[in-house]
Amino acid sequence: MLVKDGIIIEIGTGTRAQLENQSNWPNLTDSSTNYHEISNSFENKTSPEGTSTEKTSPEERNSEKFTPNDSSSEIEWIDLNGAEVMPGLVDSHTHIVFAAPRHEEFALRIQGASYEEIAAAGGGILNSAQKLRETSEDQLFEDASKRVKLMMEWGTTTLEIKSGYGLSVESELKMLRVIKRLKQTFPIRIRATFLGAHAFPIEFKNRRDDYIDLILRDMLPAVVADDLADHIDVFCDEGFFTPEQTEKILLKAQQYGLPAKIHGNELGLTGGVQVGVKMNAWSVDHLEHCSEVEMELFKQSNGNTIPVALPGTSYFLGIPYAPTRKMIDYGLPVALATDFNPGSSPVASLQTVCALACTQMKLMPQEVFHAVTCNAARSLRLENEVGCLAVGMSADFLVMKSKDAVKTIPYYLGQNQVQQTFCRGLNVVN
Ligand code: NIG
Ligand code: FE
Repeated sequence: MLVKDGIIIEIGTGTRAQLENQSNWPNLTDSSTNYHEISNSFENKTSPEGTSTEKTSPEERNSEKFTPNDSSSEIEWIDLNGAEVMPGLVDSHTHIVFAAPRHEEFALRIQGASYEEIAAAGGGILNSAQKLRETSEDQLFEDASKRVKLMMEWGTTTLEIKSGYGLSVESELKMLRVIKRLKQTFPIRIRATFLGAHAFPIEFKNRRDDYIDLILRDMLPAVVADDLADHIDVFCDEGFFTPEQTEKILLKAQQYGLPAKIHGNELGLTGGVQVGVKMNAWSVDHLEHCSEVEMELFKQSNGNTIPVALPGTSYFLGIPYAPTRKMIDYGLPVALATDFNPGSSPVASLQTVCALACTQMKLMPQEVFHAVTCNAARSLRLENEVGCLAVGMSADFLVMKSKDAVKTIPYYLGQNQVQQTFCRGLNVVN
């Protein structure tokens, strides 16, 4: 694989000597060859449809992105000794900026309390919101950084992170600034989602419409003014936001050009898919409850709205698993994500998610591999940049400990199969 400016510009098979004999490969033994010479010889290479080897994607233009210091112009040959490589994993749904774990609720649930009961008693998301408000921005950044590093070790090279534990203008902005700082600090791709509509804060308990007004009038404009979010999300479910409230929020967000991702159908068949597909959401996530009616709506969206399942949440809360076997048999491009958060899924590793999806959802290893790479990339509209290894794609790849990693990842539960992580051609985990 030949990489320039973080983009794959050639892929070949064979030994180093065999590659060097192919006319389109530079002489890799000549360390004085510089990138410009290579780039000229590869200028006319074809790229996957809709992509370009030029830096024209919004992501590449994004001024917040991490910029490596290395301006070396020499070709670096990295010999992986025949190890297998695979695309970096794409985690399209996380809440990794949080102030504290929620061990107490874990213990309560072991004793029989439900997620809904804990939430109704002021625990759950509101518990996390209270703690986040009391925690400094620097502390949140430091803690979230540790989680990002851990996820990179387990092969995540693209990561979506939501706000939603602030639930006030000030605290939601604080969370989103932490995510922005993570974007600037780490070489992996990070996408930010504004989730002010995650729960109704205590002070709005009996005046829910006022909280919607706060989101529409104060939060959204402030988030957009500081360019802090790439998407918006709403928890559209029983006891949380209704489909009507969800639509109202998404309509306003559309005016600001913010695409939607929805938390829906975790607690029941509550209309999340209907409103998501109607509002052109890029994904509806959770779907522990999903009938054929919802599947048909996803199908009609023709890959526009991706169903994202979160098996870590089902495992941890003891709730049903999303019927992904049926969804895939129905022809849907299912994605899987960790939902890493302190309340419903303290799961950092997409490899663990793959294992759960095979054993609990009865997906095949190849199906879960697509679900955490190209399908997940589509749910972030990054499918032309990440999620597969091809000319024109970002050089985000993993060096695996074993052969047949697609099969060993879900097989060796809890055993990291990633030896090294590369992102944009940079070795970010050794
Ligand atoms: O995706 N379901 C809503 N939100 C999160 C849980 C957040 C929490 O419990 O802290 C989820 O599971
Ligand atoms: Fe979530």
